[in-house]
Amino acid sequence: MNQIAVIYWSGTGNTESMAHSVADGIAKVGKEAVLKQVSEISAADAAAYEALALGCPAMGDEVLEEGEFEPFFSDLEASLSGKKIALFGSYGWGDGQWMRDWQDRVIAAGAALCGGEGLIVQNAPDGDGISQCEELGAALAGM
Ligand SMILES: Cc1cc2nc3c(=O)[nH]c(=O)nc-3n(C[C@H](O)[C@H](O)[C@H](O)COP(=O)(O)O)c2cc1C
Repeated sequence: MNQIAVIYWSGTGNTESMAHSVADGIAKVGKEAVLKQVSEISAADAAAYEALALGCPAMGDEVLEEGEFEPFFSDLEASLSGKKIALFGSYGWGDGQWMRDWQDRVIAAGAALCGGEGLIVQNAPDGDGISQCEELGAALAGM
């Protein structure tokens, strides 16, 4: 499939802003981004994409959002081998532990992690954060 999925959960819009910018970065290099909230796609349908950008903020105590995103990602995890994956998300007061744990899961599942690590932005992305998101999308599209 030539399209790249950008799938995210966002409670207050910060990770949603990041998702839109990741999709913009994909489009800027001429690929098609399919942008979806996690509630709009099943893990089985997500597994049909060869490249996915996944976004989720730090929630709970340094974990993925547990109501929708964690169940989705748990289901997807077994299908990640060989796929190209970019991770992104917003955080508030922590040090990014949720993202380090998430990265480890993606690598353990056998996926190629775009850039070698996830992109984290504190609270709402500023101009610099928006640029980093666009660069992440472009890098994923170029893998
Ligand atoms: C219930 C709850 C739990 C949170 N837990 C953490 C946390 O463990 N570490 C952290 O850095 N930020 C935490 N935050 C802050 C959010 O990650 C931060 O506000 C982020 O920008 C939210 O992104 P969103 O607008 O995409 O929902 C938490 C926020 C909420 C509401």
